[in-house]
Order: sequence, then structure tokens, then C-alpha cells
Amino acid sequence: MTTKRNDGRGADSARVIIFDTTLRDGEQSPGASMNKEEKLRIAEALEAMGVDVIEAGFPIASRGDFEAVEAISRVVTDSTVCGLARAGRKDIERAGEALRPAARKRIHTFISTSPLHMRVKLQMEPEEVLRAVTDSVTLARQYCDDVEWSCEDGTRSDHDFLCRTVEAAINAGARTVNIPDTVGYSMPEEFGAIVAMLFNRVPNIDKAVLSTHCHNDLGLAVANSLAGVANGARQVECTINGLGERAGNAALEEIVMALRTRQDLMPFHTNIKTEHITRASRLVSTITGFAVQPNKAIVGANAFAHESGIHQDGMLKSAQTYEIMTPESVGLAESKLVMGKHSGRHAFRKKLEELGVPLEGDALEDAFHRFKDLADKKKDVFDEDLRALVEEEGRENDRIRLVSLHVVAGTTGPQTAAIELEIDGETKSHTAQGDGPVDATFKAVAALVPNEATLQLYQVHAVTAGMDAQAVVTVRVIEDGKSVNGQGADTDTLVASARAYINALNKLLVKRKKHAPEALSA
Ligand code: KIV
Ligand code: ZN
Repeated sequence: MTTKRNDGRGADSARVIIFDTTLRDGEQSPGASMNKEEKLRIAEALEAMGVDVIEAGFPIASRGDFEAVEAISRVVTDSTVCGLARAGRKDIERAGEALRPAARKRIHTFISTSPLHMRVKLQMEPEEVLRAVTDSVTLARQYCDDVEWSCEDGTRSDHDFLCRTVEAAINAGARTVNIPDTVGYSMPEEFGAIVAMLFNRVPNIDKAVLSTHCHNDLGLAVANSLAGVANGARQVECTINGLGERAGNAALEEIVMALRTRQDLMPFHTNIKTEHITRASRLVSTITGFAVQPNKAIVGANAFAHESGIHQDGMLKSAQTYEIMTPESVGLAESKLVMGKHSGRHAFRKKLEELGVPLEGDALEDAFHRFKDLADKKKDVFDEDLRALVEEEGRENDRIRLVSLHVVAGTTGPQTAAIELEIDGETKSHTAQGDGPVDATFKAVAALVPNEATLQLYQVHAVTAGMDAQAVVTVRVIEDGKSVNGQGADTDTLVASARAYINALNKLLVKRKKHAPEALSA
């Protein structure tokens, strides 16, 4: 049996296309929803990292999704921007419309091909599904040349039928054919064999790039994706930090670093600038509120830490004894002392540029004042401190702002918080008691900004080491089924908590405004 290989990119048959779906499949994780501005920031980070295709959303799913895909299409020029669509006219038209401004665009259309999904979910006969494949890809090609087709639940599909659908999709003009392991059921050998089987049995397979899309229900998403590559797939669909439905998708950072590190067994390459990985991981974690577990490969806090005496001794002799990649290769530099309280505006601006978070005008001025305040409280100001600080810029349209907070805490209650907020330009204050200082603070805010939101997540992490480290607090609140995340940073954990809660409420107000404008304060 001969196996045809195709990468769709001419001579470079060892190049693996990285298709990131953090903003689509990743966002489908319960609680990971992001607003348009947050999606734009992530899209820009993915583009800077060299991601080939950014799946920006599912335009038919909601107005917010449509607007995010459209906004990303306007600003991203180096990466292809992709929108997801089911195999129906409305979905495809909506995706085509959202992608209209994109310099490079792709419509990704899909339909289930497994007996279970066709019978139970779609209630369609296989022949109807086959016709829908041809019709949907043909329609998508009217909006752009770059069309991807996916067989949802592909790994649980009958092989003969799978071959027929893949052939039909390619005949209709699909340039990429994606094989999802939708429920994370496959084993690496099995997944690799499906890819090899398609190369061997589908007559027009050389006219498309084969792609993997593996979920992590059995912890095998990365292994399955790599097995796909070893058998000829030349696109991998993945997400930052492995975010995604249920147990998540294959993690981009693991795929890319595995290919880079094991060139001896996997002689393939990607366009990813790996030094951007840590920054992208932190950005996604901060925005979604999904903490990265400390022992997570590549981006976990302990991924390059050495605790045991034997390991530390080895490391001192040669880093290669216990490190298969360098921390620098994933953009993990030692915390550097960068600025102090005597640093000027010019140096501050240059430093932000270096960190890849340039600010101008009022945002720069505001950040500079906050930096000066921070430098007064904290002796050493590190790169991470500056990143946390600028995370909070771009909030100039916020209707609620923190003016001051005074908290009484400790072993002898009651814990009390006196808060002053500026609400739509007017300063208001309230004092509340609570079950602990965070509860008191949130109650004081809620008394001034009545809301029905319930707190789903409250999380604190220190930006750097040291007793004077800044705390970054992430909260997730839900109101009327809509959940939003808020972040706040400060050397005082309670101030950071108040900022995070206020940030979440400001985002909820934007969501509410889309339905009915309302008076805000009590
Ligand atoms: O997991 C899946 O099957 C998907 C498809 C829409 C590609 O996400
Ligand atoms: Zn998926």
C-alpha cells in the first residue's frame, strides 16, 4: 500500500500548520466566555506568536460571537482568520459576513458522520449527510477559497462512510479536511491509523491538507495529534493551555514543543515563535480565570523548577541533566528588576514597548501614575508587576471606579469594609459588615451597585515572589445565565479583590446595556 502525503504548501512537506481554536472551542469551556476586547487581545497575541490560523468564533452562535469574529477580521493580517459554521445556509452566510473584512479568511464547516450522531443528534440518513457535505462546502466556497470541512465525531465513524464524506468534501472544494476526535475516545495508534487509512483510500486526498482536532477526555489529545502528524496530517488544531470543551483540546504549547524537542523522531516544524508561549499562556489564564496547574507541561509554574537536592546538583553541573528544553525557549525569563521609583516616563514607556504592551496618551499617563504608586509600596518592580499593572488599563469607559477602601479584618470581628466608588461620575460610599473582609468588601460594593450576580469563582495568585508581591485576584460572576470574569491587581489583596469584583460588574453592565439601559446605583 502506498501512502500519499500532502501539506498543501508545495515543497515544505515537513511544515505543520498550527490552527488555534482557543477563541472558539476554548471559549466553549463552561465559564471561559470572553468579551470582544479580550478576544482581540488574545488574537493579537496569537498572531504575534506566528499561529497560522486563528479560529475566532462561531458567528451564528450569538451577536457577541459575530462581532468578535468581525473585529478580529479587521485587525489580524498575518494569520488566517477562521469562522465556524454548521452545514446550513444561515450558518455559512453569517460566517462569510463576519469574515468579510479579513485579509486572509477561512470558513470551517462541519457535520457529524458517526452513526450515533447522525441517528440521534441530526436524525438524518447517511445519504442526506453526504449531500449536506457537498452542499455546505460548495456554498462556503462562494465566500472564500479557503474552506475547511470537519467530520464531527470522526473517530467513531464507519470507515467506508468516512472515506466517502472526505472525498465528497474535497470534490466540493475543501482545502483542509479535519478529523475530530470529538469525545476524546481514540488511542494514539488508532488515531494515527485513521489518518493513514484516509491517505490510502481516498482518491483525491492529495488535494487537501489533513488536520487533527483531538479532545482530551482520556488525557490523550496531544499524543493523538502527534500520531496524526506522524501519519501525514499537516495541520493540528489546538488551544492555549489546552482550554476547551470538557477536559479540553490538545494544548498548543505541548504540540509545538514536542515537535521542536523531538526532531530526532518527529522531523517537522511549525511557524510558532516559541518564546511567546509563556506570555500567551498567562494572558489566556488571566482573561478566562482558568488557572494553569503548577505541574502542567511547558507552562506550569513548576515546569522548569528543580526542588530535589540531586536534581539541583545536576542542574548546577549542566542544565541538560534535567531540562530537555530551556526556559528561555518558551519565553520564561528570570524575573528582572526593571524599574524603581526614580524611573521616568520615557523609560517606563520604552519598557512597556519591550514587554509587548505599548500604551499611549491617557492610558500611558494613568499607568505611569499607578506604577509610581506601586514603586512607593514595593521596593522591586519586576516585568510581571508591570504586566499586571497594564492589564487594568483600557478601562477608561468603566461606569464604576474604586476611589478608596478601608477594611477592618482580623480574629475579632465583625469584619467591616468602608468603600467609596465613583458611579457614572458621582462619588458614593457605603460601609458593610461581612463574613470575612472579602465578603464585607463585596457586600459594600453590592450595596452601591445592586445586582443579581452570584460569585462562582474567587482566586488569588501572587505575581512574583516576596512578601511585598502584588496579588492578582480573579472573580467570575454569573447573572441571568451570563458569566463574566473580572481581574484586579494590587499589593493589598483586598484592594485587588475590590478591583476584580468591580471589573466584573462593569463587564456585566456592558452585557446588560445591550438589552436595556438602566440606572445604576442604589
Ligand atoms: O470537537 C469537534 O468535533 C469540534 C468540531 C466543530 C470541529 O469542535
Ligand atoms: Zn472540538
